[in-house]
Amino acid sequence: MTTSKSAFNIVTLDGPGGVGKSTTGKVLAERLGYYFLSSGRIYRALAWLALRRGWSVEKALPAGLLDDANIEIATDGALSVNGEHPGEVLSSGEIATATSFLSVLPAVRELSTRVQRETVESIEAGGHYAGVVLEGRDIGTVVFPGAAHKFFLTARLDIRAMRRFRELKDTHPALTLEAVSEDLKNRDTRDSERELAPLKAAGDAIVVDNTELSLAEAVDAMAAKIMGL
Ligand code: DC
Repeated sequence: MTTSKSAFNIVTLDGPGGVGKSTTGKVLAERLGYYFLSSGRIYRALAWLALRRGWSVEKALPAGLLDDANIEIATDGALSVNGEHPGEVLSSGEIATATSFLSVLPAVRELSTRVQRETVESIEAGGHYAGVVLEGRDIGTVVFPGAAHKFFLTARLDIRAMRRFRELKDTHPALTLEAVSEDLKNRDTRDSERELAPLKAAGDAIVVDNTELSLAEAVDAMAAKIMGL
């Protein structure tokens, strides 16, 4: 008799903006042969859609916006909203700021959580991956509280600001380090102080401070924990 035991592993990676969750999560997922899913892209895609429909952060969302929003994430990671691919525009600072306002709304969080759970279900059903790494703010606390491995990635604000500034300075020559730092600080405050699903480490998450760690060192430490080394 065969016993069916699911070996599909869920790894959660939460933390503040600019800490390198996406880069770290992608490399970790590659190392383990897992699928990588960024929940921030889902929130950003909803903000993109809302802005295009005339929303501004101090206003209520356009009526029916969420009912009509069909977000799909393909196995290759490509995200589409109602059949359109917003692409790299989702990485812009303008979208990031709008997203941190939009993501306080319960209906937005519900929709995003559902998309994340459904995407993970279909990845598991596809049978090509041994697990999934998900990055965000509330993955270990709300989206997958029963995940086998939880990490909370953090780093000092000045280091996060410098990393983000270096990433953006070629495409945004007018940007200053001070502005990037201020923006990250404001986002951290909004993300941490919101009532619903605030940014925080799950009680059973391992906190990884990468202020003094290279990408390889952070990934090595996490992979070793997951593999029980
Ligand atoms: O990780 P990011 O920079 O792509 O996130 C953009 C914004 O989306 C962030 O300010 C807060 C929100 N977000 C969230 O509320 N919950 C998540 N799981 C992921 C992102």
